[in-house]
Amino acid sequence: MNYFEYRNGELLAEGVPVRRIAREVGTPAYIYSLATLRRHYRVFDQAFAELSHIICFSMKSNSNLAVLRAFVKEGGGFDIVSGGELFRALRVGADPKKIVFSGVGKRKEEIEYALDAGILMFNVESEQELTVINEIARDAGKRAPISLRVNPDVDPQTHPYISTGMKKSKFGIDIKRSVEGYKRALSLSHLEVVGLDCHIGSQLTSVPPFVDALSRVKILLVEGLRKEGARIRYLDLGGGLGIRYRDEEPPHPEEYAEALIRGLEGLDVTLILEPGRVIVGNAGILVTEVLYLKETDEKKFVVVDGGMNDLIRPTLYGSYQAICSVVERQAEKIVADVVGPICESGDFFAKDREISRPQPGDLLAVMSAGAYGFTMASNYNSRPKAAEILVDGENFYVVRERETLEDLISGEVIPPMLQ
Ligand code: LLP
Repeated sequence: MNYFEYRNGELLAEGVPVRRIAREVGTPAYIYSLATLRRHYRVFDQAFAELSHIICFSMKSNSNLAVLRAFVKEGGGFDIVSGGELFRALRVGADPKKIVFSGVGKRKEEIEYALDAGILMFNVESEQELTVINEIARDAGKRAPISLRVNPDVDPQTHPYISTGMKKSKFGIDIKRSVEGYKRALSLSHLEVVGLDCHIGSQLTSVPPFVDALSRVKILLVEGLRKEGARIRYLDLGGGLGIRYRDEEPPHPEEYAEALIRGLEGLDVTLILEPGRVIVGNAGILVTEVLYLKETDEKKFVVVDGGMNDLIRPTLYGSYQAICSVVERQAEKIVADVVGPICESGDFFAKDREISRPQPGDLLAVMSAGAYGFTMASNYNSRPKAAEILVDGENFYVVRERETLEDLISGEVIPPMLQ
């Protein structure tokens, strides 16, 4: 459920006409609904109310400071994967004891930064990383709290680029070798083994892969680790719950929670979850203006002012994003590709999509763009990044200015011999 709805033929973000926002801030622009963000967070959080748990929002899906701050105010923590994400978390006042740090390639400086900040735990993804964290902690005179990210070898039945928990994926430590990994961690004096972590993929639309992964890590925990003397206090089951982009029927967070709660019976742990998409995906849209309608003998193209640099999901994963007219118009239906201005044939938001024939100047909304939209944006073709807007009831706020041309070249230098 989200708060992007039509009233009198016009798309509103909560109480604000999207057309008004576009007129005032220009296009392309990302628009987020605060009521939707809060609602999704609360539904998810409350689904786990009966358990001791921490919701660590996965900020790779949306890292705008205003969005992050909203979750801090809800009591949430963060799943981070870089020093940059830690910087954002601290900037919005996150409690470091609600931050978990995942990722296969943590740099030394990032580990130092996180250790210094006092995060809850490092989700360690290789044996070498254990050694590096131990050395850094020793040099700092500390013990680093760690969990091992275990790869349970479960097929999440999603796009291969976003499947992370299968044997051949780069993530985590093979579950068969994880007892060895834990033994090694327990032997290192500057590590404190506190958790067990697994994340199997993203945009999962059914419960069984989650339950399957949980039952595998549970066996590991009960039969393997506790016997080795590891005191596992936190069980981190990652993120991954999917959303509806088109006609998917993902489980409701309550159904997902019930299955996990059942699977956790008898384990005395604090559950950590790292949802991203399910919280923000349908809480955001990308608004873009139609520039041209171009017809060839073969095809029709609706050329818009947003491109793959603003929203790369359709290009990268061939994923479907619904596209709606911001102001409904009575026009013939056409089948067209909705494409951006970038010089690549891969620059499209939709292929062979049936839409009402638009006119130049019309606004289109690319729906479900709140997750992995702006965070994956780039400056390709020297295009300034879009503005980000947060709507709250009848009001809206620019929470990230549209980049300027000067922003595009900030940090670039022409060396003396070329001057
Ligand atoms: N935890 C870890 C360790 C992750 O790697 C991810 C996502 C999450 C949590 C959050 O997953 P979510 O709840 O959002 O599914 N760019 C892709 C998605 C990449 C997901 C990467 N990892 C897309 O646009 O579909």
